[in-house]
Amino acid sequence: MDHTQTPVPDAALTRELVALAETLARAAGRLVHDGRPERVAVAATKSSPIDVVTAMDLASEALLRSMLAEHRPDDGILGEEEGYVPGTSGLTWVLDPIDGTVNYLYGIPAYAVSVAVVAGEPDPERWTAVAGCVFSVADGRTYTAGRGTGAYLDGRELHINAAPDLATSLLGTGFGYVTQRRRAQARIVAEVLPQVRDIRRIGSAALDLCTLASGGLDLYYERGLNPWDLAAGALVAQEAGAVVTGLDGRRASADMTVAGPAATVGQLVAELERLGAGSDE
Ligand code: IPD
Ligand code: CA
Repeated sequence: MDHTQTPVPDAALTRELVALAETLARAAGRLVHDGRPERVAVAATKSSPIDVVTAMDLASEALLRSMLAEHRPDDGILGEEEGYVPGTSGLTWVLDPIDGTVNYLYGIPAYAVSVAVVAGEPDPERWTAVAGCVFSVADGRTYTAGRGTGAYLDGRELHINAAPDLATSLLGTGFGYVTQRRRAQARIVAEVLPQVRDIRRIGSAALDLCTLASGGLDLYYERGLNPWDLAAGALVAQEAGAVVTGLDGRRASADMTVAGPAATVGQLVAELERLGAGSDE
């Protein structure tokens, strides 16, 4: 597939894709909810011994893939657990079967199924996000967004908070699983914390971005997000009025994702650039 030729879906197809993203995320969310044992076991580890996978991460992604095979057989799929299978349509589904797996493991009710569909290369710096749904499994909240069609929580249209000063902004962030990155992140957060109202580490990037969209956070930044962590949540935040960006004029990516109202994002980006937050040194 030559991604430079990929057409972006029109409003009618976008709405269909939002509806399908919601159907998928809610179905996988029900599986995750109903299948949660009293004590969740770790099935495997990934980038480090604390980067865990549970049986339910695997089952959730398998369900999402089987539903897509039925409904959208020509689209590609990029999922956290099973990787990338290219399609022929120019659209790719980007799946996080459980975002917030550590919360799921401990029974902390902040984990979600994140389903997005993007046009073009499945790379956050190149794609056009078309539709997405983040289903918050523990409380059943359903965040949806379509490109140009708005962001919604359980059908209610979302708008981010009006921009407060950086000093009165409630800031969300998160940390990676690898020691060297965490050392660097700890250095940055120590500099940022005294400059804001307070910091929240919710433990699910998808929910961080949706919480920002619904006014529960004023700002968010994180280094190290994977495409599936941010695909749906970034679209929800953007459609609710947020700027979602990277550092040094780049788009949001694994290197850095910053989200919030334009004015305070500008201030935070400048501060993160000054601190060298785009590297692990
Ligand atoms: C993680 C969560 C977390 C963020 C990490 C992600 P996972 O995803 O979104 O909030 O800080 O960067 O990897 O491992 O729970 O799917
Ligand atoms: Ca994730």
